[in-house]
Amino acid sequence: MIYIQVSIKTDNWFGGKGKGEQMSITARLDAATHSVLTKAMGGTDAPAKLAQALHYAVTPGGARIRPTILLSVAMACGDDRPALSDAAAVALELIHCASLVHDDLPAFDDADLRRGKPTVHRAFSEPLAVLTGDSLIVLAFDVLAEAAGDDAARAIQMIRVLSKRTGMPHGICAGQGWESEAQVNLSAYHRAKTGALFIAATQMGALAAGQDAEPWEELGARIGEAFQVADDLRDALYDVETLGKPVGQDAVHQRPNAVSQLGVQGAVRRLKDILGGAIASIPACPGEAMLADMVRRYAERMTPVAPALHRAEALR
Ligand code: IPE
Ligand code: IPE
Ligand code: MG
Ligand code: MG
Repeated sequence: MIYIQVSIKTDNWFGGKGKGEQMSITARLDAATHSVLTKAMGGTDAPAKLAQALHYAVTPGGARIRPTILLSVAMACGDDRPALSDAAAVALELIHCASLVHDDLPAFDDADLRRGKPTVHRAFSEPLAVLTGDSLIVLAFDVLAEAAGDDAARAIQMIRVLSKRTGMPHGICAGQGWESEAQVNLSAYHRAKTGALFIAATQMGALAAGQDAEPWEELGARIGEAFQVADDLRDALYDVETLGKPVGQDAVHQRPNAVSQLGVQGAVRRLKDILGGAIASIPACPGEAMLADMVRRYAERMTPVAPALHRAEALR
């Protein structure tokens, strides 16, 4: 097995002096997700298998990096409406989970494993997986609408950001749509497929705390780009047990990626460059230093360790 130092669990995103912040983010995400899911699963008058599939698709969850970034940005900006921030974080993660359920379907990547367990269509059925993704998408927007309370202006802006980064022409749908084109615009494909939800994360975090979204786009885009390069490295170098999902998929589906274009070392250099730029792009805010620290830790965790890289390069 080739070991790469990439964090899979949220516990590792912070650490050292950031640990207190990380604990509260985890606790907030757990509580908010639990309350949203409990309501969405309904009672005895709702179809039981679909209710179970919703729960299965969202819990115990993956690294929850997007909502962690969202809450970190909200906290860096003052987090004066924590309930709205929590709702935004859950909504964003629901969209992400929905995108994975649909992405794993036979119509897309036909994957058997996700987060170390059978994919939703394998555990339940294809119709239930389609409906699970649909239900989670609708639920995400309902969560935001419900959280609006007496701050509808912020919620509406967040709904607009999340819509833009989920649909066409700039969201996940667009990203997945590129896979049906004969000629792929690689940067548009990656920006829409992966970058979009990271932009939503930074922008919704700022909006939840009453700040303008626009200055936060670049940070989200850069973290998203770095994440895609790290994901390409993981896809090329990890094994299925470590990753909990099929590996080597870019090669199987003949998709262009950072490793095939730049080689392993080149992709690692690219990752470092992007994350350096991400730190420089953090907008001025009270928690600027905390955010820079988060991105630095993120960079450390994502960067493959040198011996593994040499071995990986030798195996290619
Ligand atoms: C996987 O995202 C899908 C991509 C955009 C590459 P994550 O690696 O964040 O998945 P989970 O939520 O931690 O399982
Ligand atoms: C999934 O992309 C990202 C979505 C927009 C759903 P991939 O297909 O590249 O990611 P994994 O390997 O299945 O997580
Ligand atoms: Mg895919
Ligand atoms: Mg996939």
